[in-house]
Amino acid sequence: MDPSDPSPFLAGDRPLSGAELWQWRQAAQAAAIATDVNPYEVDWLLQALAGLDRLTLQLGSFRSQEAIALTVSLAELDDLWQRRLRDRQPIQYLAGRTPWREFSLRVSPAVLIPRPDTEEIIDLACALTTEADRIGHWVDLGTGSGAIALGLAQAFPQAQIHAIDCSPEALAIAQQNAVEHGLRDRIQFFHGSWFDPLDALRGQLRGMVSNPPYIPRNLLSTLQPEVVHHEPTLALDGGEDGLDAIRHLMETAPAYLQPGGLWLVELMVGQAIAVTQLLQHTGRYTAIHSHRDLSGNDRFVSARLKMA
Ligand SMILES: C[S@@+](CC[C@H](N)C(=O)[O-])C[C@H]1O[C@@H](n2cnc3c(N)ncnc32)[C@H](O)[C@@H]1O
Repeated sequence: MDPSDPSPFLAGDRPLSGAELWQWRQAAQAAAIATDVNPYEVDWLLQALAGLDRLTLQLGSFRSQEAIALTVSLAELDDLWQRRLRDRQPIQYLAGRTPWREFSLRVSPAVLIPRPDTEEIIDLACALTTEADRIGHWVDLGTGSGAIALGLAQAFPQAQIHAIDCSPEALAIAQQNAVEHGLRDRIQFFHGSWFDPLDALRGQLRGMVSNPPYIPRNLLSTLQPEVVHHEPTLALDGGEDGLDAIRHLMETAPAYLQPGGLWLVELMVGQAIAVTQLLQHTGRYTAIHSHRDLSGNDRFVSARLKMA
């Protein structure tokens, strides 16, 4: 489809029919295949903007509907799809939402799109803790969309969660997500750098969970255009070797964690050995372990603050 062509699917002021949407979807999927984009993403957009569920879309049963409740005009829908194909904007930003664990999370270009891999950090936090650990104060450092904070709030119903980010725009999205999922009173949001806003909680945290920026700076330009051109650099850039934020978190966490408190971070494939060695060199941690993701790659490292 040429974006400069007027859409042949404009329905004017009358409601769009299922047959018209079906025709648009066929053309959009063909254009996706031609430009190496997953044609399933068309349905992602339609689920968000046309209120159609996945099965209805897959079966094509909407085709016989007299009217489709599209929240934008067909021309606007087509424009969004052209932005996906032409500018490689991530479909999650265009749809404004992404599924993550059992949440449907609001996302914008101010936040990293929460990844399926990161869902596992919540299961890991559960596996590494006892009932007693799950009471008290937990932090999500670099909360972005709020994904980890929401996951922790749900998994640890008796804990108080604190979510920090240095991006006010990201915090606004995270707070909206907490409100939408009924978890606003379980999570306190703080604007600032890493542990800085948590002075009042020194020595009191039961656990720290973080998915910090960890991409080595010289690799940023090699990432997919969807990532490097559209996701916030602040969420990706881990400095020269990718470990700037992780080093900072292991150096500063001992002042904030309780003795025995959990330190748990996500990292990039290939960083686990360096991170476990750095943790050992601090002399402050015990039970230092790396953990694999579902694909079998070491993607997480956990440790416990040594007892005094
Ligand atoms: C990789 S993203 C993770 C976002 C979210 N936790 C997730 O897993 O989808 C890293 C986040 O760290 C935040 N960040 C970067 N530097 C920071 C700093 N100095 N203090 C607090 N947050 C920071 C970024 O704004 C971004 O939201």
